[in-house]
Amino acid sequence: MDFVSVERGDVAVLTIDRQEKLNALNPQVVEEIGQALLELEAEGPRAVVVTGAGERSFVAGADISAMNEMDPLEAKRFSEIGHAAMALLDRSPIPTIAAVNGYALGGGCEVAIACDIRIAAENATFGFPEVGLGILPGMGGTQRLPRLIGPALAKELIFTGRRIGAEKAREIGLVNRVVPQGEALNVAREVAAEIARNGPLAVRYAKAAVNRSADVDLVSGLEYEADQFALLFATEDAREGMGAFVEKRKPEFGGR
Ligand code: COA
Repeated sequence: MDFVSVERGDVAVLTIDRQEKLNALNPQVVEEIGQALLELEAEGPRAVVVTGAGERSFVAGADISAMNEMDPLEAKRFSEIGHAAMALLDRSPIPTIAAVNGYALGGGCEVAIACDIRIAAENATFGFPEVGLGILPGMGGTQRLPRLIGPALAKELIFTGRRIGAEKAREIGLVNRVVPQGEALNVAREVAAEIARNGPLAVRYAKAAVNRSADVDLVSGLEYEADQFALLFATEDAREGMGAFVEKRKPEFGGR
């Protein structure tokens, strides 16, 4: 891969690396993100951290020069491969954490909000500049942003194209936490390590259950929760986790 590197382990780190263009997403970068996430899903790390290479930028958006050359069908294809890659972040069974180390504009913000959790450096900048280019967010922004921060604030950000800083992003629920400049990746790794200490099947099913809350009514969601809850009682991990508590020792989860 030319633009994506992966550090493998219990906590995997996927780095988008196209620094001369502030990690902007052209079709190849998006394909590589999707490919790397598919490989990771098969390998099954306990959490995946996504970040941008360099000091300045997480991802400065979709590649405007590339989009400027696209016809409508190419644009549709670009949007669709974007949707597929973003779905591997929020729909994959593995928790994903964005370490937002700088600009997260347009497609960059869409990558960040497709992750389960966002840790932002204090110099991070968020925004959806698309309408200023005569286009709209095409990698899930119009759908995920209102679900995350509510439709009114989402519309304000998308219609104005205004950029906001990390503190403001935290205030409106766009990011979980703001950390000192240069620390986003370290803190994201720590959060990932916290997750990795827990029962992996429990975390997977919990992610699926929380995701379900966005798709179905409360009664159906609660039924799903009860089913997932019951299913975990068939796992060795549940016996190990609860047994360890009763025996006053630390659990050792096998993911079975
Ligand atoms: N698409 C294509 N190229 C991009 C890009 C993008 N989204 N964002 C940055 N770049 C490129 C610049 O064109 C420049 O390339 P060059 O050196 O070959 O001219 C390089 O990255 C560095 O960016 P530059 O604009 O010189 O840095 P800056 O510090 O002056 O400004 C930004 C940084 C992020 C404010 C500015 O690059 C910008 O506004 N980018 C576009 C953001 C955007 O609208 N994203 C949403 C797209 S849907």
